[in-house]
Amino acid sequence: MRHFLTLKDYTKDEILEIIDLAKKIKKETKNREFIPYLQNQTLAMIFEKSSTRTRVSFEVGIYQLGGVGLFLSKNDIQLGRGEPMKDTARVIGRMCDMVMIRTYEQKKLEEFAAYSDVPVINGLTNEYHPVQLMADYLTMIEYGKANNPVVAYIGDGNNMAHSWLMLASKLGFTLRVATPKGYEPDRDIFNEALEFAKRSGAKIELLHEPKEAVKGADVVTTDTWISMGQEEEKEKRLKDFEGFMVDKELMGLAKEDAIFLHCLPAYRGYEVSEEVFEEHANEIFDEAENRLHAQKGIMVWLDGKRRE
Ligand code: CP
Ligand code: NVA
Repeated sequence: MRHFLTLKDYTKDEILEIIDLAKKIKKETKNREFIPYLQNQTLAMIFEKSSTRTRVSFEVGIYQLGGVGLFLSKNDIQLGRGEPMKDTARVIGRMCDMVMIRTYEQKKLEEFAAYSDVPVINGLTNEYHPVQLMADYLTMIEYGKANNPVVAYIGDGNNMAHSWLMLASKLGFTLRVATPKGYEPDRDIFNEALEFAKRSGAKIELLHEPKEAVKGADVVTTDTWISMGQEEEKEKRLKDFEGFMVDKELMGLAKEDAIFLHCLPAYRGYEVSEEVFEEHANEIFDEAENRLHAQKGIMVWLDGKRRE
């Protein structure tokens, strides 16, 4: 049995296998063919943080696969009153077939997974957002940007930056990460990505100058400067991230046909300008839709592994 906690645990071949499955299921879905790959299965969805896309895509996804999703908000379950993760994991594993968790520390997710008899999927932690990156990569393929691309990630060295590091270093493409000083990705995660890059041939660069990162890029991407749980740092962060907005001028340095991706929610006038956002709305909302298809691929793949 496998969990889906970070792309660090996945080989290039496995990532591509899941993407192929997602493509196939997307095509079927577009033809209104709803094949019950996960008939009568139940997905428990535990949320300790807010969500629009993750909740909707997992709930719709499991339903379209013939199963049902249980939305479990921290405020409504005993976890929120202090019941240990490991007990919650053991109870849910007796009744459900798969679990998705959105929480704070990756360690909490790992603890849950260690006690879970059923596959656990990371729906975002402070450190990683791997399901998002599967949707992002599917979008890159659809826009013809998956063949040895140069990707520029501008902004905070957060869960999204870490997940891009894992994707690029596993698949072997070029990733330039530009952050303000003091907001670099976690050093251990960055070093791990460098190790993977040695094997895959990926080129990973850490910069502090957005223009340098974006020059000639095929894909430009960013994320909020204030992630969930960092609300108190807002004032300081807005100051520290000055000059890191992806605006028309910055985007103009990328390749002429470059795409812009954003995991959403987007804060216009901060990490991205209204103009760039609206000019690239097509790819951004294709990316959001691809959450549904990519996660169906992940769930069906995990179910297959359990049956092997
Ligand atoms: N991108 C993403 O995970 O969005 P939500 O926070 O709305 O789930
Ligand atoms: N970095 C953001 C991503 C939201 C989908 C956060 O963790 O809040």
